[in-house]
Amino acid sequence: MKKYAIIGGSGLDRLDTLAVSARRHVVTAYGVPSGPLCEGQFSGAPVVFLARHGETHRLPPHLVNYRANIAALKAAGVTTVFAITAVGGIGKECGPGRIVLPDQLIDYTWGREHTFADGTANEVQHVDLTAPFSTELRTLLLEVAPDAGVELVEGGVYGATQGPRLETAAEIRRMERDGCTLVGMTGMPEAALAREAGLDYVMISLVVNWAAGIGGKTISHAEIGHHLEHGMSAVLRLVGRALGVALSR
Ligand code: HPA
Repeated sequence: MKKYAIIGGSGLDRLDTLAVSARRHVVTAYGVPSGPLCEGQFSGAPVVFLARHGETHRLPPHLVNYRANIAALKAAGVTTVFAITAVGGIGKECGPGRIVLPDQLIDYTWGREHTFADGTANEVQHVDLTAPFSTELRTLLLEVAPDAGVELVEGGVYGATQGPRLETAAEIRRMERDGCTLVGMTGMPEAALAREAGLDYVMISLVVNWAAGIGGKTISHAEIGHHLEHGMSAVLRLVGRALGVALSR
């Protein structure tokens, strides 16, 4: 049986509409996850919620213990992850306020613990990451989006940068040439670790600003805050609808 988790990013450190039945502080072989695993009912569906940056948003992207987060979800019996990220928009269809379902990613991060392969397994495994996000979950989200009243950008290339600083305009121009349409700081190694752990993983990205140099303006934290506040409810409506449909099948 499937068990669903939501990993909340910036703007989603708490899931206010989760009727919490348990808050479990766990420790994994890789250390402590970003926060407790909050189990409960969301939109009528049982889910586990984990705040990627911690419940008080204390962890910058490069200090999130991605391995502990994924290992904790796996140990809790989770099979399927909806990963919510706030991103900068690079592609012209990815302006602030848009909700994007990326289908590809490029990893520009460095120095993060990015694999469970620690040399102790009998055989090295090279997981296939050709399609980094679950095709089945992307199809489901695209199918339910109209009923949820959410207009989705159907694909995108998520470029994962190291942060916590934002990028330079030249870095974004390079990413654009590489084919990135979105930029964020947390998609990797999270997506690859989920694949290593055998979890179905999909990312839903809320665009909260034009990436550096794209809109011709400097990036405003007020604008980011505005889009986080206004866009997250639509993202959650979408996930709630997807959960309802998935559980009814
Ligand atoms: N760059 C990287 N990460 C981000 C951005 C950005 O412009 N906006 C939100 N997360």
